[in-house]
Amino acid sequence: MVFGRAFPWVASIIITLLLIGYVVAVHLLRVSEVVMPSPLTVRVVNKTVYLPLPGRITNISVEEALLWRRSIREYTDRPLTVVQLSMLLWAAYGVNDVRWGFKTTPSAGATYPLEIYVVIGERGVALNETHYLEAGVYKYDPYTHSLKPVKLGDVRKELQEAALGQEWVGKAPVSIVIAAVFERTTRIYGERGRLRYVPMEVGHAGQNIYLMATALELGTVVVGAFYDDQVSSVISLQPNEVPLYIVPVGVPKTPYRISFSDIARFIESKRG
Ligand SMILES: Cc1cc2nc3c(=O)[nH]c(=O)nc-3n(C[C@H](O)[C@H](O)[C@H](O)COP(=O)(O)O)c2cc1C
Repeated sequence: MVFGRAFPWVASIIITLLLIGYVVAVHLLRVSEVVMPSPLTVRVVNKTVYLPLPGRITNISVEEALLWRRSIREYTDRPLTVVQLSMLLWAAYGVNDVRWGFKTTPSAGATYPLEIYVVIGERGVALNETHYLEAGVYKYDPYTHSLKPVKLGDVRKELQEAALGQEWVGKAPVSIVIAAVFERTTRIYGERGRLRYVPMEVGHAGQNIYLMATALELGTVVVGAFYDDQVSSVISLQPNEVPLYIVPVGVPKTPYRISFSDIARFIESKRG
């Protein structure tokens, strides 16, 4: 009889506990989805750097990455981690298809005219607490997700001079340089490839870097103002490769943050 009267209370406690259990389980499942590529999986063989494999390493949504994307030109002295570098390069031009080797960036007729270089400064990319990648210019191979050395040594100051002295190019621990081999696309699409498709594609790759950098809580800016010949010489581009973007990346001094409510208020105020 006593239990009969208490039954609604017992039932409501059980239901509450079940609900709490459900919420905790959903949260734990979300967290366990985050796959951390282990920094230990980096391998350096004859100065070729086999990067940690790409994986889901952030919980920032695409909406938040778009909301918080900003050009950031001031960085702390902290290095990037090799996992962050791996994710930035995969976002820029990594493989996301195992049948044809298609990439994270769309390409007219899958001609893939872009080549991705990385300028790494002294202590610019940390392998762990005490070890860093050797400073130098490296070329990214999307298929093996590796970096092949082009020349060793810190060339950031020379790259900054080639970029009309822009300080963020000299100070960022890493700059990604995107170059294009126009003939791969113009062979099929002629002038339209030169004027439209290749420039569009570098824009796609640049935006991918912006969004991945934002998700990794890094800061970046695309730089288009530079002397082509000087950049080509500083990073030893091939004669058929034209530099299109320098993309310095670092840990931001001040990350950019805004809320959707701020944006809603702004939009409402414009509506009147
Ligand atoms: C094609 C292009 C070239 C750019 N070149 C430079 C550059 O040389 N130096 C620089 O500091 N920012 C450069 N920017 C970044 C713009 O200044 C920046 O996107 C703009 O001020 C808007 O700011 P936001 O990116 O934070 O929205 C460039 C952007 C684009 C799209």
